[in-house]
Amino acid sequence: MKTILVCNWKMNPPTWKEAKKLFDETKKAAQKARDVSVIVAPPSVYLRELAKVSRAIPLAVQHARAEEGGAHTGEISLAQAADTKATYAIVGHAESRARGTTNADTNAQILAALALKMAPILCVGESARSIQGEYFDVVRAQVKEALANVPQNRLATIMIAYEPVWAIGAPKPMQPRDMHEMGIFIRKTIVQGWGEIGHAVTILYGGAVDSTNAATMRDEGDVRGFLVGRASAEPSKIKALIQSLA
Ligand code: PGA
Repeated sequence: MKTILVCNWKMNPPTWKEAKKLFDETKKAAQKARDVSVIVAPPSVYLRELAKVSRAIPLAVQHARAEEGGAHTGEISLAQAADTKATYAIVGHAESRARGTTNADTNAQILAALALKMAPILCVGESARSIQGEYFDVVRAQVKEALANVPQNRLATIMIAYEPVWAIGAPKPMQPRDMHEMGIFIRKTIVQGWGEIGHAVTILYGGAVDSTNAATMRDEGDVRGFLVGRASAEPSKIKALIQSLA
């Protein structure tokens, strides 16, 4: 199975010229690595032009609203993102949640994305951990509420990216054995609500992933791939990361 890499450029790079260069370098590295499947999530202003550059690399919108339109200054809708040819939608990234996205919003976004034939990438993850283990309850609620009313036969189109907030932007990722445990927990949560199909859900990890740690996390953390911030937003770093997984 191919390793999935979702390149979350966040609010980078500053110009279209640099965005095009980063995309071209990412594409070049991806084409050499047959075992890696790359999805690029650029700032939404670059989506339409990047879709014209190449169909070989699918595009994701980083954040978009479920409503078709309305008085939401500064926001874009999933329908608008789909119209630019983005085929994936990141939903509930920690940075969107910090700006107010709730579990109910993630549910509406997932249902809207599915109706538009986009594949949702649901981000979940607790902001802190303590030995009492209440972070499992946080993640369970995020998963269950986001997936409410999703029909069983659509679950396989959804990827779940577990991103503990404390590892996003941090120097190091979480321990692979802790990811392994969380992967089992997320699958179990879905199996309880939706049946055996839960075992088939694609689980990604995100938070401080780079070329020095990704292969170990894939092999020991039981994940199908990664959601990558910093290491995806510079040509040399994304090239090294893709090579490390090939
Ligand atoms: P990072 O970000 O790779 O820079 O830690 C991950 C993310 O926010 O998806």
